[in-house]
Amino acid sequence: MTLCYNGGEKGYPITYTIIHTIHLYAAFIYGGFLFTDNLFMSKMGKSLSPEEAQKARQAIMKHVRKVVPPALIVTVLTGIYMFSQVFGEIPPEGMTRFQILLSIKAFLGLWLGIRGFNQVYLGIDPWVFKSHKFPFLLVIIIIALSQFMHL
Ligand code: HEM
Repeated sequence: MTLCYNGGEKGYPITYTIIHTIHLYAAFIYGGFLFTDNLFMSKMGKSLSPEEAQKARQAIMKHVRKVVPPALIVTVLTGIYMFSQVFGEIPPEGMTRFQILLSIKAFLGLWLGIRGFNQVYLGIDPWVFKSHKFPFLLVIIIIALSQFMHL
């Protein structure tokens, strides 16, 4: 089996590659926090008293708030740039698999971004999500889409 990107051309331009790499780092920081929160931090109450668990969470969240929301903004902005570069023309016979899956991924990512921005920077939480389970689920779906869209 021969694996070949871009129909055999050499690869993406350097600007795109740098933005792509930044997107991946920023998505790692944002998604990484959601994985850590849902898989491990949510279990702190099992080995600490409720007061200790709350204190430990506060100590961590103090730093999370400085880094994770900006990482989400960077993810969305770099994503919008890449979208504008790779989406391409819609063929007359309809959208390609890549275009459909990328559109879904971009929609979910944008939605997370707008929701996160409203919540953290404007204090608006119209969809009232108290836990991080829903964003966690969306990130899992987004990561899967980002891989399967290249099939
Ligand atoms: C929380 C939000 C997001 C997460 C966690 C995320 C995550 C990812 C991941 C893991 C990749 C794959 C990178 C790779 O395999 O090298 C990717 C690629 C991509 N993302 Fe996002 N993303 C998010 C938001 C967005 C948004 C809002 C857009 C566009 C509006 C977007 C557009 C893209 C594009 C176009 C690619 C494909 C780049 C390529 O293959 O050339 N992303 N994203």
